Amino acid sequence: MKLLRIIQAALCVLLLLPFSVGVSLASSGGPALPQQSWGFHGPFGQFDTAALKRGAQVVVEVCLACHSLKYIKFDQLKQVGFTEMEVNALASTAGKNRKDALLSAMDADAAKESFGIVPPDLSLMTKARKGYENYLYGILTGYLKDEDKAAVDRALEDDTVSDAEVKELAMLLSMDPHHPDKIREVARRIKSGDNFNKFFPGNFFAMPAPLAADGQVTYRDGTHGSIAQMSHDAVTFLAWAAEPTMADRKSAGIKVILYLIVLTVMLYAVKRRIWARIHH
Ligand code: HEC
Repeated sequence: MKLLRIIQAALCVLLLLPFSVGVSLASSGGPALPQQSWGFHGPFGQFDTAALKRGAQVVVEVCLACHSLKYIKFDQLKQVGFTEMEVNALASTAGKNRKDALLSAMDADAAKESFGIVPPDLSLMTKARKGYENYLYGILTGYLKDEDKAAVDRALEDDTVSDAEVKELAMLLSMDPHHPDKIREVARRIKSGDNFNKFFPGNFFAMPAPLAADGQVTYRDGTHGSIAQMSHDAVTFLAWAAEPTMADRKSAGIKVILYLIVLTVMLYAVKRRIWARIHH
């Protein structure tokens, strides 16, 4: 009896463990990531084909200027619903043909010269960062708007940043108002033209806002390309790129579970049959 209790308690701890780990990860510094809904999450979730096609367009037209997705070939985009003609058209916007991988037009040396760092390959990016899709969405939407930058400039105008201005900046930059010196320093770097992003750890990095204007991408399906829409679509496509076989994996998983349920019911029926004879 006592042993059973101990096992029960141990099971409870084991079951709760993943939740506590999740909470501690979520609370480790910086503002909370935007929690977007991703239709492809969960055991039955599948990719939205229209979003994937839009996302591919954003990634090819915008991100490929600097980044590569070396594990994906243009031809593979047929899997997200493009026809061969559309694949050819998309490849040619990037100066490639459909047999090529999604490689950036910019070579590593040129990138290093411009940015001081080679932009990382995006093939597996949704799996490579804490926060996954929400982090990527955060990065794409976490830049300051023009009016926020103007507010920073205003606060720095007379070279002293008053306490009231520090408070305003803290709100604007999602920073802790209890570190005014840090806020002043960050404001000065923003004014000098460094790329500030609310969700990048440390706030400053080498990527200028890639999706900076509403309608930057003219979607072929007529959807309005707001920054939020383009970001959500691009991240959806990057999630597919990181796992193009997700749909197959999930449908195989569902079949296996159905098979196991049927098998369990049959084995239970057989067991009852056999033991019924032995009891009598
Ligand atoms: C003008 C060039 C340029 C464009 C266009 C661009 N990036 Fe970047 N990106 C960079 C550079 C440079 C870095 C490296 C930044 C650093 O680590 O300082 C980077 C880094 C990243 C990172 C990694 C952030 C991290 O946590 O390390 C992600 C994710 C990313 N870019 C996504 C995108 C997406 C998605 C697009 C298209 C919508 C895009 N980028 C377009 C230059 C660019």
